Amino acid sequence: MNKDRKLLIAGNWKMNKTVAEALDLVNGLKRELASVKEVDIVVCPPFTALESVSRAILDSNLRLGAQNMSEHNVGPYTGEIAAVMLKEFSVRYVILGHSERRQHQKETDDLIARKAAAAHAAALKPIICVGETLAERETNRTEQVLETQLRGSLAGLTREQMEETIIAYEPVWAIGTGRNATAEQAQAAHAFIRGLLARMFDAATARQVRIQYGGSVKPNNARELMEQPDVDGALVGGASLEVRSFSEIIKNSI
Ligand code: 13P
Repeated sequence: MNKDRKLLIAGNWKMNKTVAEALDLVNGLKRELASVKEVDIVVCPPFTALESVSRAILDSNLRLGAQNMSEHNVGPYTGEIAAVMLKEFSVRYVILGHSERRQHQKETDDLIARKAAAAHAAALKPIICVGETLAERETNRTEQVLETQLRGSLAGLTREQMEETIIAYEPVWAIGTGRNATAEQAQAAHAFIRGLLARMFDAATARQVRIQYGGSVKPNNARELMEQPDVDGALVGGASLEVRSFSEIIKNSI
């Protein structure tokens, strides 16, 4: 596939996998994907498996991401994890503002912007998630919602930081439902996002930013989605939990 931007395919394991299960999965992925150079491959285990997975992938082409982090660096924030703690395990990416956190933890765009700033300060690359609900799509509010989320959660970033930021377009109605956005729907949303980034930053910056699609990505729909000109990778949930399906998604995308 011929695109200026290298594909970035990440597995968001969500709240799945004990340490032993996590090691089984990454050891299998290492075997299956050892020869892949065309795609940046990232796994995002739960915090409790970061250390073991980090060791297991040291000598591999897999990179490590976390699923969340605090906007604070240190202090009395019970239950929170700081960027510097993630860095101890060679974490390079951090998912921020996933719709599940927006919904269950009531994360706001403001909070996500503060987390993104903290991530950049620690040289972690944020993967910032945005996406509309079904009701919003059906009432033609998709672009408005994406614009509000992006203007809010990217507030304050410099052009240089924006280039090191990944956007994940995850329509809420496609997450865990088996109903993925069509390639056309994904491309339209991604093109809108890139156009908005050009307005917010500049055209050169917008061209650099990788925009992932997430929501029921499977081996049988990955290629069509990844072929779209503004789709630069995938954020995979359910299908990232098995060696076979995650490897096939990556191989089918090349
Ligand atoms: P599914 O691939 O299970 O639909 O989840 C997508 C997602 O939320 C990735 O962050």
